[in-house]
Amino acid sequence: MKLELLKKKFTGKRILITGNTGFVGSWLSVLLHLMGAKILGYSLKKKDKRFLSNTSEFKKKIKTIYSDINNFDKNLNKIKKFKPQIVIHLASQPLVLESYINTRKTYATNIMGTVNFFETIKKINNISKVIVFTSDKVYRNLEGKILSEKSNLGGIDPYSASKSCQDIISNSYKSCFLKKNVDLTILRAGNIIGGGDWNLYRLVPDIFKSIKNNKKIIIRNPNAVRPWQHILEILNAFILILLNKNSDNAEIFNIGPNLNSNVSVIKLIKLIKKTGRFKNLNIKIKKNLKYESKILRLSNLKASKKINYKTKLNLKESVKLTIEWYKNYFLNRNIIFKYTQKQITDYFNK
Ligand SMILES: NC(=O)c1ccc[n+]([C@@H]2O[C@H](COP(=O)([O-])OP(=O)(O)OC[C@H]3O[C@@H](n4cnc5c(N)ncnc54)[C@H](O)[C@@H]3O)[C@@H](O)[C@H]2O)c1
Repeated sequence: MKLELLKKKFTGKRILITGNTGFVGSWLSVLLHLMGAKILGYSLKKKDKRFLSNTSEFKKKIKTIYSDINNFDKNLNKIKKFKPQIVIHLASQPLVLESYINTRKTYATNIMGTVNFFETIKKINNISKVIVFTSDKVYRNLEGKILSEKSNLGGIDPYSASKSCQDIISNSYKSCFLKKNVDLTILRAGNIIGGGDWNLYRLVPDIFKSIKNNKKIIIRNPNAVRPWQHILEILNAFILILLNKNSDNAEIFNIGPNLNSNVSVIKLIKLIKKTGRFKNLNIKIKKNLKYESKILRLSNLKASKKINYKTKLNLKESVKLTIEWYKNYFLNRNIIFKYTQKQITDYFNK
């Protein structure tokens, strides 16, 4: 749907987003702001200055309460005052490796944070829609089987286990506490690529940091296959879900790329190297002794039938957009907020 048409639907809508300072949340905030929505964010501040949420334009346009998700209820009055109609929950510790190092904190944020999130929003009237963003890692992965929304849950590493719990807790709140007219959707997405991700232990940020610093990239699982998809495709899924009216039960949607975008880590690196002509990008493989699933493949069938979700980008186009974003950032970081808006506008007007 073109941006002008979306503006008609979203202008003046009051949307609360937890985790809006991160990679996914900042793109989502910029999109919804472009469409005329009023945003209130609730997140910890990203310490890394390179995040989009630390640009002056972002801070000017998107009001954010900087606080821990486990203090969400302490901010009830401020949140009530904003009168949110839609609430999107992204705030999480999102990294598998970090979850091995800070396991208790990962569970506190992802599990009790979600409980706290629902305990608070159940006290707010006039919310019509809640979206919780979990992950393809919620599934008990059967290594290679294409996962549908009906596949069994059961993440193994601490991050994945916490996201499985987040998913179950959300469903439970919908069944037991949320009013009938509050619509809950759980979105389970695969690995997201795109500009503006500066998180540690993630492939794409690691690649661009290595290129910039002329250092070898260290990879842990060269043959792990993941459903790589561009952040703009995820934004499109959010829009379709926001426009969709659910039945009485919670709706769950997998959002993944076309199956030929399910490639290994090493293949993705080679594609980035070739497309960006990064001759100095060299790889060092470090054995990983921690459990991470080897193959993750998601089926989009339900989303394509029910909300008409179609991928617009193939892997090569997603890689190109990602490279262009980082190249622009390294050329002139002062234009990056506007450049992000441009990538969003071009995608939705495509
Ligand atoms: N990036 C991906 O490939 C991907 C794939 C599937 C799902 N997800 C999910 O998307 C969401 C966002 O991930 P991301 O990639 O943008 O990561 P990110 O680290 O860039 O963003 C995480 C956000 O959560 C906030 N947060 C973390 N701990 C918090 C706490 N204790 N209290 C309040 N806020 C807190 C951060 O401040 C930040 O705004 C997460 O729920 C993640 O599980 C991400």
